[in-house]
Amino acid sequence: MITDDILYIGVNDKDIDLFEGQYIVPNGMSYNSYVILDNKIAVMDTVDHRKKEEYLAKLETALDGRCPDYLVVSHVEPDHASSVKAFLEKYPSTQLVGNAKTFQMLAQYFDLNFDSALTVKEGDVLSLGRHELHFIMTPMVHWPEVMFTYDSFSKVLFSADAFGKFGSLDAEEDWICEARRYYFNIVGKFGMPVQTVLKKAAGLDIQIICPLHGPVLTENLGYYLDKYNLWSSYEPESEGVFIAYASLHGNTADAANKLKDLLTAKGCPKVAVADLARDDMAEALEDAFRYGKIVLAASSYNGSVMPFMEDFLHHLKGKNYQKRTVALIENGSWAPSANRTMTEILSQMKDISILDTAVTIRGTVKEENLKELSALADALL
Ligand code: FEO
Repeated sequence: MITDDILYIGVNDKDIDLFEGQYIVPNGMSYNSYVILDNKIAVMDTVDHRKKEEYLAKLETALDGRCPDYLVVSHVEPDHASSVKAFLEKYPSTQLVGNAKTFQMLAQYFDLNFDSALTVKEGDVLSLGRHELHFIMTPMVHWPEVMFTYDSFSKVLFSADAFGKFGSLDAEEDWICEARRYYFNIVGKFGMPVQTVLKKAAGLDIQIICPLHGPVLTENLGYYLDKYNLWSSYEPESEGVFIAYASLHGNTADAANKLKDLLTAKGCPKVAVADLARDDMAEALEDAFRYGKIVLAASSYNGSVMPFMEDFLHHLKGKNYQKRTVALIENGSWAPSANRTMTEILSQMKDISILDTAVTIRGTVKEENLKELSALADALL
């Protein structure tokens, strides 16, 4: 129960192996949905069709014999809207509520007739009785049709994907870690639209945030809003250095770990390291955004760079990576080419400063390489 007449009717999904077909979710996912029980009843979004039977049963219990008047579709992505058809088959008199784009996009998934749907736009208000639903268009947070709904009676913001996280609701973990990994991988590209939304939200008296994933947020809301403001501005969050490496035979990994030791010995407050071939790429991407300084260490490969590093850099570019200081380490036995390729890809990103203390290793880390790594550590600090 969120308030005395707003109920949580979402579901946990612990069977899913990859969210959006690519992100590992060791603690599953939650797909959130809410029902507002007033003179009129509004349901806020559905859930992934993977869990539609459980969802419809929870909805039926919450309704206690009544019928929903409205189904508000904040976001058409299938983790929320793929049960819309099953919902309408069960409650055919329910009126769909969305914006013009909502129905264009829903039609791409369902053969439904939208003639009786209620199309809303920025600033429109739908009264349920005591609850007044104010619609706020929030395109690209995270798809173009996304909208928030603000209930001015209960001071609840239904925030679609924003403020969500990976992990089911009963996962014993703090919000921050999986919310950050979720943000940079799912919404990270869209910093500017998030900034626009935060400006709109600043004018509202919000007591509760109801996202479509993760826990309902009821306390200390400034903390969550501040994190979103920081992340969407692409400013670093934590002091320290992130080292990402892709190593063919372990020697580049050795250089990365020696650099970590040097940085730590020189007083760097935190050094995070990721093996791009083995560690979670989504977490590596999160750490690249988290820290202001990153080191890319890679073996040369095919006259270019080891594919895991190339993949990582393309992920960063795709997420609008910017405003960072980068140091490069390459390894190459006969024709080192990794630094050149990494520089080329980095040059396609905004406000990336590449340190001129790049290190080239040929095979194993030698004494002169250690001096270069030490100089690189000094430059980073
Ligand atoms: Fe949770 Fe953009 O879907």
